[in-house]
Amino acid sequence: MSSDDAAYAGLFAKLERERGFRGNLYRQKCLRRRVAVRMRARGVATPADYAALLDADPAEYDRLLRVLTISVSKFFRNPETWAVIRKQVLPALLLQQEPLVMWSAGSAAGEEAYSLAILVWEWLAAHGRDSWDGVRIVGSDIDNRSLEAARAATYPEVALSETPLALRRRWFTAGEEFRLKEPIRSGVEFQQLDILGTRPNFDADLILCRNLLIYLDRPAQSRVFDTFAEVLRSGGYLVLGRVETLGAEMRPLFDVVDARERIYRKR
Ligand SMILES: C[S@@+](CC[C@H](N)C(=O)[O-])C[C@H]1O[C@@H](n2cnc3c(N)ncnc32)[C@H](O)[C@@H]1O
Repeated sequence: MSSDDAAYAGLFAKLERERGFRGNLYRQKCLRRRVAVRMRARGVATPADYAALLDADPAEYDRLLRVLTISVSKFFRNPETWAVIRKQVLPALLLQQEPLVMWSAGSAAGEEAYSLAILVWEWLAAHGRDSWDGVRIVGSDIDNRSLEAARAATYPEVALSETPLALRRRWFTAGEEFRLKEPIRSGVEFQQLDILGTRPNFDADLILCRNLLIYLDRPAQSRVFDTFAEVLRSGGYLVLGRVETLGAEMRPLFDVVDARERIYRKR
């Protein structure tokens, strides 16, 4: 271990102790680049100096956590994936059995969980239903600020750049920002949850976990897959990000529904 490695390990151990963020389980290259952004902003040269600065100015923890939990998202990000969710996954689930639980793990400011809620609601409405009875949608994230933004449900236009125009018109009130309408807002509940910590207190029929695993190292990814395998009911679906793949150890537990869109179904 180089002295830099030791200093970063010390910094992340401190961050875990103080704020519960397990930086040592994330890909180091990416995370260190982000710490460097804060170090430059505060004019310190080494991770050890930066750790000392955190002691002197604890408000810096929040700024650091904000850059470490990379919370960029969009409604209907990767539209091709959403097309398969809409045409294949949701009908299979909604026709099959209820109650259903759908979980967006690492939901950032709610864009993904609400995109799901829009598609679920449209399916329900098309089938003569007018309530969320029987369907629970949970969005979770480690970052409380993202969760606050999710509950506020008001977005800059850029968050809607991949949203089909008809959906945009139907479900958002346009102004300086775009405000999501009811009943979509009340269709999603948000929880703070560290995906590397304890498993959630529900079982799920659909898990969306996109663009989070890429930030984790292999052992941490395995840990998350173990949690998913435990939480997902038999026949339930798992959707990963376009550049993420199911770990080899998990393959016997899942059928591939759509390899390109990274959609799997638990046996
Ligand atoms: C790049 S965003 C992805 C958002 C959305 N899933 C998407 O694909 O557009 C990654 C999210 O994962 C969250 N995150 C990072 N580490 C986490 C952890 N250990 N537990 C839960 N969420 C985490 C971040 O706070 C961030 O909101």
